Amino acid sequence: MIRPHTDTTVAGLIGRIKRRQLLRLGFLTGTILATVELTAIIVPFFRVNKIVGLGVKIPVGAKATVLSQFKSSNDTPILNIEGKFFLLHAPGGIAAAYRKCTHLGCSVPWNAAEDRFHCPCHGSLYDKHTAVVLGGPAPRPLDLFHIADTNGTLIVDTNPLNVLTRAANAWNPKDLEITE
Ligand code: FES
Repeated sequence: MIRPHTDTTVAGLIGRIKRRQLLRLGFLTGTILATVELTAIIVPFFRVNKIVGLGVKIPVGAKATVLSQFKSSNDTPILNIEGKFFLLHAPGGIAAAYRKCTHLGCSVPWNAAEDRFHCPCHGSLYDKHTAVVLGGPAPRPLDLFHIADTNGTLIVDTNPLNVLTRAANAWNPKDLEITE
């Protein structure tokens, strides 16, 4: 029962004190809940997640293993989804082509029926072994990621800021970093 402040009896005084305590408790509970919710929202922004995929160095196996995979698949490019690249059986070795279309940046898929890369966005075509442009609006070949042979394992550096950009639309043997 709500008692008016004019109630100066002992029962009235106790009632007012309880109401005040209840209000304080409610305020405190609300503040704690709000703090917990805010923390739950903010903390994930500061947590550093392990970086996977594009931007890191990705091991793709031994050179001999990759070459034997090419041999048994009529040189079908090997897709690495996380790293956004294809391993190519380039003339005389192995290259890694960044699958970002050089026209407007769509992800370029391998088209087995056409035996070449075919960008679904505006139809650019790229060669199976070299990723040079065969047709469409793409201004230059697919960029290449750097590859190193480290202790018998091929490592592809998928840093998109450190790609090998090829201005000329032709295969240049100097761009080959892993030879057979
Ligand atoms: S983005 Fe690939 S052809 Fe336009």
